[in-house]
Amino acid sequence: MIAAAVMNTSMTMSTLSKLKEDPELHDYLVLRVGKAHLRQRIGVETEHVADRFGQGRTLFHIENWHAAAAIINVALKITGLAARGRANALDFQVRHNEWVLPHLPEVFEGFTLLQLSDLHLDSLASFPDLLAENISNLEYDICVLTGDYRFLTHGPQQNAMLGLERLCRDIDRDIYAILGNHDSILMTKPIESLGIRLLLNENIQIEREGDSLWLAGIDDPHYFSADNLEKAYDGIPDEAVSLLLAHSPEIYRHAAYVGFDFMMCGHTHGGQICLPGEIALTYNSSAPRFTGAGVWSYDLMQGYTSVGAGSSVVPVRFNCPPEITLHHLRRGGMQPSTAIVAKRDC
Ligand SMILES: [Fe+2]
Repeated sequence: MIAAAVMNTSMTMSTLSKLKEDPELHDYLVLRVGKAHLRQRIGVETEHVADRFGQGRTLFHIENWHAAAAIINVALKITGLAARGRANALDFQVRHNEWVLPHLPEVFEGFTLLQLSDLHLDSLASFPDLLAENISNLEYDICVLTGDYRFLTHGPQQNAMLGLERLCRDIDRDIYAILGNHDSILMTKPIESLGIRLLLNENIQIEREGDSLWLAGIDDPHYFSADNLEKAYDGIPDEAVSLLLAHSPEIYRHAAYVGFDFMMCGHTHGGQICLPGEIALTYNSSAPRFTGAGVWSYDLMQGYTSVGAGSSVVPVRFNCPPEITLHHLRRGGMQPSTAIVAKRDC
């Protein structure tokens, strides 16, 4: 099924050309995201493929500067750290966070979300199998994927989609997802063909015994600027608990103003190659550094930035292990709290 969906794409064709050749896919995407959203995505994906400067929310995009990978690889070879960095990139840590939400319905006490971010599934051949092994024994109620399925920001998507298909075999709960800055709108159909519900400026109601919480997701805010918080919040009652998936933390202030209770994001990789003490050289984000990794809050909204399970540019990590995140929701007092626990099961 995946193969059929992705066979329509090739390395050399633009998103516009691919959709002109495949009216059925075009109609599918119009139905899913609407004409205006699709046209914006097509415009950026066609005119700004892998731009190093200017597009989106940051001035420079290191993931599109191919010399960066060459420079890092040379440095790793000279220092003899390549094998260590690669082993680090597969040394997954499970993090548990507890979030106190004062108006959480009682029936959702202990409700747990498995967050997997920045998978870049085609970075290393062994990555999907190893990640699947690491999540197979975890307990959770739903899984959320916060974007970046492909290693590069452009080119073929088949291997990333095959990796996602492999991962899904070990996820036995409902999966909700968003797209990141490495993800074409053309991935919508193959991802949804796996039974994953993409939330592209949309929300869904999760019901239990007559009570609900709401999960919203926005399209990539970092590079494609395809996010629309207004659409994503549409229909959510003010008194409801609302959770937001966003690829990057860059829209955190507006998400808080809108009224979301808790925002889960990724994109920064926590710096990926860090100094000792997990000090990031860059978070590749226009948002302030306090949103770069882990737990944070702004106004009445609590937030969490995953450092990601995968790797970008070069599949290595230093002083920033890849993470698998479990968010446990708790019913609490009158004041929202910042993170209660953030620990690693080593
Ligand atoms: Fe990423």
